[in-house]
Amino acid sequence: MEESTYCFRLGEDSSSLQHIYWGPSIASAQALEMSHASVPLRIPFESPKGISREEYAPWGEMRFTEPDLKVTFADGTRVVEWVFEAYGIDRSNSGQTLWLQFRDQAYPLTVTLYYRIYDGHDVIERWVALENKGGNGPVIIEQSLSADWRLPPRDRYRLTYLYGQHVKEMQIAEVVLSPGKMVLESRRGATSHQFNPWIALDPDASAKEESGEVWSAALAWSGSWKIVVETTSYGDVHCAGGVNDFDFHYHLDEGVRLELPAFVGLYSNQGFGGISREWHAYQREHVLPETPEAVRPVLYNSWEAVAFGVNERNQMELAEKAAGLGAEVFVVDDGWFNTRNHEHAGLGDWTVDPQKFPHGLNPLIARVNALGMRFGLWIEPEMVNPESDLYRAHPDWVYHFRQRSRTEWRNQLVLNLARADVREWVFTTLHRLLSEHHIEFVKWDMNRHFSEPGWPDEADRNPERIWLDHVRNLYWIIDELRSRHPQVAFESSAGGGGRVDLGILSRVEQVWTSDNTDALDRLRIQEGFSYAYAPRVMMCWVTDCPNFLTKRTVPLGYRFHVAMSGSLGIGGDLARWTPGELEEARGFIARYKQVRSTIQNGLLYRLRSPRKGAVAAVQYVARDGSEVVVFVWGHSQQFGETKVSLALKGLKGNAHYADTISGATYSGAYLTYHGLAVNLVGDFDSRMLHLVRITERKGVIG
Ligand code: GLA
Repeated sequence: MEESTYCFRLGEDSSSLQHIYWGPSIASAQALEMSHASVPLRIPFESPKGISREEYAPWGEMRFTEPDLKVTFADGTRVVEWVFEAYGIDRSNSGQTLWLQFRDQAYPLTVTLYYRIYDGHDVIERWVALENKGGNGPVIIEQSLSADWRLPPRDRYRLTYLYGQHVKEMQIAEVVLSPGKMVLESRRGATSHQFNPWIALDPDASAKEESGEVWSAALAWSGSWKIVVETTSYGDVHCAGGVNDFDFHYHLDEGVRLELPAFVGLYSNQGFGGISREWHAYQREHVLPETPEAVRPVLYNSWEAVAFGVNERNQMELAEKAAGLGAEVFVVDDGWFNTRNHEHAGLGDWTVDPQKFPHGLNPLIARVNALGMRFGLWIEPEMVNPESDLYRAHPDWVYHFRQRSRTEWRNQLVLNLARADVREWVFTTLHRLLSEHHIEFVKWDMNRHFSEPGWPDEADRNPERIWLDHVRNLYWIIDELRSRHPQVAFESSAGGGGRVDLGILSRVEQVWTSDNTDALDRLRIQEGFSYAYAPRVMMCWVTDCPNFLTKRTVPLGYRFHVAMSGSLGIGGDLARWTPGELEEARGFIARYKQVRSTIQNGLLYRLRSPRKGAVAAVQYVARDGSEVVVFVWGHSQQFGETKVSLALKGLKGNAHYADTISGATYSGAYLTYHGLAVNLVGDFDSRMLHLVRITERKGVIG
């Protein structure tokens, strides 16, 4: 879109970077004027630096708010006094990166701040690199956030964020901020279900779905993270985020450079819908590994159907049925490897179970391929069950402390991926698995968080670096596998949606949104998801009823419509579906394939929130405006009212649209003003509507 401007300037003495402006587009002359006019506040008993609006503030001098950087030098000095040294702009085909380098005045530490922007987008990627130039021993980094976003002075900001739990991810919360800090974080070693590293701030709770100013930020990090939204006692709001400093130390040895993850910011005056669409566009064009136009295939996964009971016979049978429906990827989930008949054993021993697959996986893969589908496999490489050959051989490979218990969760422990030998073992094991089988899809799971995050062999050095190095090595392994096996697409799962963030999204094609596949619950989970993340990456399965979790029974059409509003998958036990259900499913899948590029890659408008009222609706407009898809779900009919009028968004008033199902034609103005009338009857009724733009004006309504 490019409808915003961001400005800062070097402070008078070159020892600070002063924020000037972040908001709607202004001319450079105005920005310059503003930079001259921005006089720091004078407040009794506060030094100017303590209350100045710095782009990035190391702890030191009279600064008392959340610092962005805190280090200890080898001689015990614990504050940074930095001075500007150099800057540059690197241009690429799609945008440019501005970097500004500061150095400590007395110690060999440099801090480089990066700002990357892309043509046609309003996002700003900010991150930091620290370098120990050497000659003075290691620098201990205690806190090193990636960026600090400064909001313009307004009365009060509302903070919107995403919280949740397993089977209840991406719930939307909001709070009007008062002086103090609101800290959102994960201390779990992974992104977490509990809080997602994404926020939005709007002044005086004034933004609506399609109007109003919103500032938003999201972290590209899949480990423990922290976002501090601080309102100072003077009403100034800033928002600092990055790797969590809790229990964290990083010894930056001489000559070592450390690059921290990006904290990405975005401004829009088009409300929450505006920021969502911009986040989606940015992810499609600059984050996700696939091209912006790529579409995700329809997938089948038998986890809910057979759980650990996978075997060659039932998978072959399911593959036949899935292919018959139109599935394009067939995924064998948990249970395919040695001794994995339940969740008590097997993780770590990644060899095919000869009892379940007496001829290995290859005959099944060949059959799946012959049926025209790609073959996918589930793995959980960061984990080990104590009941496994791997753990018996390497009990020291898991996080643990001496003299402390090793807390098991789902009967498993976390491998210390920060160790070079563990990293190597994980990579080699997976490389072999992918080399020996024609695998084209990997579901990478992570089903527990870190506890007792110790590394006894490193105890006298820097064991706290696991918080950073586990994730860096995870990224390294995926990147390396991707480059060696470019045919493989990846899905990030962590007990459902516990690892969804911009960091993992730059190396996986999609994510498993939630283990909760109840269609009604999914509407709320998927709505929250859509605030921050693109529909293309949001994997949604149609599963059986009564739902395993909620015991709710809803019609197959309703389940399909919910799952079709993201990347469609099927997770039911097809062996038990009636011929009628299979026929219905085939129809939905064929229909989905016709419109999926608009759903997965179009512009998303949330027409009616499932949090408000008995009807929910989402609309997608193709980027070239040629096609519109609308899903509408009625939860329960009341008072005999059946008609719902949906005022559509993002249409051209003078263009004309034809409903491909009813044949009716409408003007864009009519659809926007009067809306599209839909009849929903009874409980759990739903519709998918499909409109195409037409040129002639024959028989147009309105
Ligand atoms: C996690 C995933 C599920 C399934 C199981 C297998 O919970 O989210 O989809 O793969 O693991 O154990």
